[in-house]
Amino acid sequence: MTLRINVISIFPEMFDALGFGMSGRALEKKAIDLCLTNPRDFAKNRYRTIDDRPYGGGPGMVMMAEPLSAAIDAVSGIKTRGQSAGPVVYLSPKGRRMTQTDVELFAALPELTLIAGRYEGIDERVIQTRVDDEVSIGDYVLAGGEFAAMVLIEAVARLLPGVLGNDESAVQESFTSGILDYPHYTRPECFENLRVPEVLLSGDHKKIAAWRKQQALKVTKERRPDLLEKRSQGTD
Ligand SMILES: C[S@@+](CC[C@H](N)C(=O)[O-])C[C@H]1O[C@@H](n2cnc3c(N)ncnc32)[C@H](O)[C@@H]1O
Repeated sequence: MTLRINVISIFPEMFDALGFGMSGRALEKKAIDLCLTNPRDFAKNRYRTIDDRPYGGGPGMVMMAEPLSAAIDAVSGIKTRGQSAGPVVYLSPKGRRMTQTDVELFAALPELTLIAGRYEGIDERVIQTRVDDEVSIGDYVLAGGEFAAMVLIEAVARLLPGVLGNDESAVQESFTSGILDYPHYTRPECFENLRVPEVLLSGDHKKIAAWRKQQALKVTKERRPDLLEKRSQGTD
């Protein structure tokens, strides 16, 4: 199955960065069909203007409703197929903070439309009329939504069937089981006087699994006790 991801951005070339690593593999294997659309192609003047000054004054520019909504309608299926096959997500610092659970839900969809904002953001009426979900990648402000969209796409790409080399890997990671990941070691056995924990060399898979679980709980308790609380309340 292919996940179609429509991206609306005035800098579609930035998404070339997805051509590497795991997201590159997802594109190559057609696990993702990436459809990039520039709202400038829907601008009403020959200067391809997509932004204007904010009503009420203040600094910066705002992405105009008309070219943006026309771009969304063209790609999200509303115009071409009569109805949208998936949610329209606006990447925004005002959105709820994205978690691995959101990523898993996105990965299970047949289609997803992402809007990357620029300037001071997009006209509120586009959010009212076209946006189903507002998602933030963290409590800081980026200059545009492109990197945020790519963060979402890469996190989704690695969950799609056939993309990860070893199907087990995604299951054992941070957040997937509600806690952080255990520490990893590879050769050599001794690096700058630091030895690989003995248990990992023991070949005893039961003991190794127990040690990893205990290490994962320890690091979660130290760094993200909130995850343990959520886990015990069953809220995430
Ligand atoms: C300069 S920001 C606009 C910030 C907006 N005026 C505010 O204070 O909430 C321009 C665009 O970057 C994107 N963006 C910035 N920070 C983001 C974040 N933390 N998560 C997701 N998208 C973000 C959004 O698409 C936004 O429209």
